[in-house]
Amino acid sequence: MPQFMSWTSGILMLLWLIAPSKACTCVPHHPQMAFCNSDIVIRAKFMGTAEVNQTSLYQRYEIKMTKMFKGFSALRDASDIRFVYTPAMESVCGYFHKSQNRSEEFLIAGQLRNGFLHITTCSFIVPWSSLSSAQRRGFTKAYAAGCEACTVFPCSSVPCKLESDTHCLWTDQLLAGSEKGFQSRQLACLPQQPGLCTWQSLRPWAA
Ligand SMILES: *[C@@H]1O[C@H](CO)[C@@H](O)[C@H](O)[C@H]1NC(C)=O
Ligand SMILES: *[C@@H]1O[C@H](CO)[C@@H](O)[C@H](O)[C@H]1NC(C)=O
Repeated sequence: MPQFMSWTSGILMLLWLIAPSKACTCVPHHPQMAFCNSDIVIRAKFMGTAEVNQTSLYQRYEIKMTKMFKGFSALRDASDIRFVYTPAMESVCGYFHKSQNRSEEFLIAGQLRNGFLHITTCSFIVPWSSLSSAQRRGFTKAYAAGCEACTVFPCSSVPCKLESDTHCLWTDQLLAGSEKGFQSRQLACLPQQPGLCTWQSLRPWAA
């Protein structure tokens, strides 16, 4: 009996360990989708550790914005963003910032709610230095040109086919086994002519 007990409690322990990570599942995003689906896209530094509000169960990080790529009209009055808000628990997709480096710049793509910038662990938040030069060009200018007319359409298992001329099939996960493949790092889905979108290179020599 004691053996059985420890076996079941072992299982319970295992379930308990697995459960929190399963509660929040993120779908991978091509950076152009992250740009287009976000209200606010900025470059910023994280200035310290999170402050938790025990009433709202939200925590906020103080940030220093160094550049804004998207959200000028949404933000209007507040010209600066001093904080990002995220749930205080990982089980409900709270974002936990790991880097202690206050001079490191991050690309942050989030949603505006009641005038506050909200992020989750599924948000596109990456060190600026880890982006390819094509991705930097994308966030600065190029991705915006595809938001209205074009859709990056994820293909994660075969068969998948193009459902519309305005879709670009995103196959990085299938071919590279990763969301950080060639199409993510080098390409944007942009209008070629009215009603037709294609993958286009953002590398300087192709521009
Ligand atoms: C904490 O959250 C509550 C409810 O949203 C809010 O009224 C209060 O001002 C917040 N406190 C701080 C210190 O931000
Ligand atoms: C902090 O980030 C800056 C800018 O990315 C970098 O130059 C510096 O080496 C980093 N410092 C540490 C201690 O990692």
